[in-house]
Amino acid sequence: MKIISSSSFQLAYLGILLVILLFINIHSLQAATLQYTFVVDETNYTRLCNTKSLITVNGLFPGPTITARRGDTVIVDVINRAEHNITIHWHGVKQPRYPWSDGPEFVTQCPIQPGGNFSQRVFLSDEEGTLWWHAHSDWSRATVHGLFVILPRLGTTYPFRQPDAEVPVVIGEWWERDIQEVFEEFVKSGGDPQSSDALTINGQPGDLYNCSASGTTKISLDQGKTYLLRMVNAAMNNLAFFAVANHSLTVVGCDGAYTKPLTSTYIVISPGQTLDLLLEANQPLNNYYMAAKLFNGQPASDFDNTTTTAIFEYTSGRNFSSPPIFPDMPAFNDRNASAVFTGSLRSLATPEHPIDVPLKIKKTLLYTLSINSIPCASNQTCDGPNNTTRFAASVNNITFDLPSTSILGAYYRGINNGVYGDDFPDVPPLRFNYTQSRGLNASLRTPEVATDVEMLKHNETVELVFQGTNLLAGVDHPMHLHGHSFYVVGWGFGNFKRSRDVSSYNLVDPPLMQTIAVPQNGWTAIRFKADNPGVWFMHCHLERHVSWGMGMVFIVRNGKAANARVLPPPPDMPPC
Ligand code: C2O
Ligand code: CU
Repeated sequence: MKIISSSSFQLAYLGILLVILLFINIHSLQAATLQYTFVVDETNYTRLCNTKSLITVNGLFPGPTITARRGDTVIVDVINRAEHNITIHWHGVKQPRYPWSDGPEFVTQCPIQPGGNFSQRVFLSDEEGTLWWHAHSDWSRATVHGLFVILPRLGTTYPFRQPDAEVPVVIGEWWERDIQEVFEEFVKSGGDPQSSDALTINGQPGDLYNCSASGTTKISLDQGKTYLLRMVNAAMNNLAFFAVANHSLTVVGCDGAYTKPLTSTYIVISPGQTLDLLLEANQPLNNYYMAAKLFNGQPASDFDNTTTTAIFEYTSGRNFSSPPIFPDMPAFNDRNASAVFTGSLRSLATPEHPIDVPLKIKKTLLYTLSINSIPCASNQTCDGPNNTTRFAASVNNITFDLPSTSILGAYYRGINNGVYGDDFPDVPPLRFNYTQSRGLNASLRTPEVATDVEMLKHNETVELVFQGTNLLAGVDHPMHLHGHSFYVVGWGFGNFKRSRDVSSYNLVDPPLMQTIAVPQNGWTAIRFKADNPGVWFMHCHLERHVSWGMGMVFIVRNGKAANARVLPPPPDMPPC
């Protein structure tokens, strides 16, 4: 008796073990490795007004969409056939322990030179929804970008009703001139960059722009169906308002994480940010414009005030003679419309999509974000304030000076040789009334120029408050962190005051993001756990600001365990 019962027990035990093993196997079998080839080249391109050539990937503008599932690995062979350096960044992909493929030039790699190539491994982990990829060297990202769609794992589904179809919506910013020329002139002058000539939707300015009408993006809708809009703002220098005539939009995801449904008649989206939006085709048969225009609370005298459009056409078998219906949109400087929309995003926070907001904080940081000025080179005039200075920008009064070799390479090899310093300040070195409306002392404007990193311990919990300043101009700064997502736990206008503002934090369902617009003359508090060892850039996603130096680098140290260390570099890292 005894023997039988023990062996049947063993049998049952073995059976359970088998089922578990099978289950694990099915799960690991599900994660796939996908292969893409990106050929970067200066290609003839005549579909966009009078443009003759553009730097593109595979000849496409916007570039090819990558589609994968949660947890997959994507290998992208990047081949540079263009005549200048390029790097590619997978915006919002955390790349656990593998910063080597992250892409920001001179932070994690040296650029891929003309004729060079780099096989980039992109490791997906908990991202799900819409992300994007873009060039991360000079201003090439204006035309070198595309969507990165991450579907739910096989056997799982969206936390909302399955849409009938998906629609890509890529907002871009276009210059009639060659973007490289615009960039070089901007760097040389020390002033503001030339403003763009138009915004674009899926590569076209649309009907309201004189030369684009024949190419206007048209998308057909079937009445009664639901569409998932996968949207990114790939514009260079501006946040954007977006709306669809007579249709409301329901946000269900943001930056590759699900949100509680948020229904609105307009949305605002910052450069770098992505949104998943549901649109129900529930209106009478007709044609409807979707439109985007820039949002800027304090625009420069000269700004791109064009509106880009594309058309939703209800399929009906007949043509509508009247022009499409145009949507209502907030005014271009309506900072309240912008802050209220962004401030209404919430994490889904369900058992299937739980949140994990750090509650015990080990490291508290306060970073000021400023537009500054520095003297022109001796005996020269430049186009910054008073014509004796050039524009600069800073985080905690430090203008980030891009080195000429990779910070990650120097850190990994343990040979710093002055490539970077590691004493980035935890609090502003200068304290003043940051958001004072006028009369801020001009002596506060000059930043220090340095390459400084903030060292974080592995798994350290961080609270970082971004404080906008009004030094030369108060504008929204869409701050983007590589290698991590963060919870946006609070925001407000004016100066952050710990004793007053911490009590208003949302620690229940704050949105999980990677790019957050810090409101004009206001502050935003984020929390994250530094659980990804590596070297991670953090910067404003307005291209003119990052070019002026509004960025810094976090280095997250290795943990003790073998699986908490930066993986070794691939053999084909581009040489410096
Ligand atoms: Cu989307 Cu560092 O960038
Ligand atoms: Cu900025």
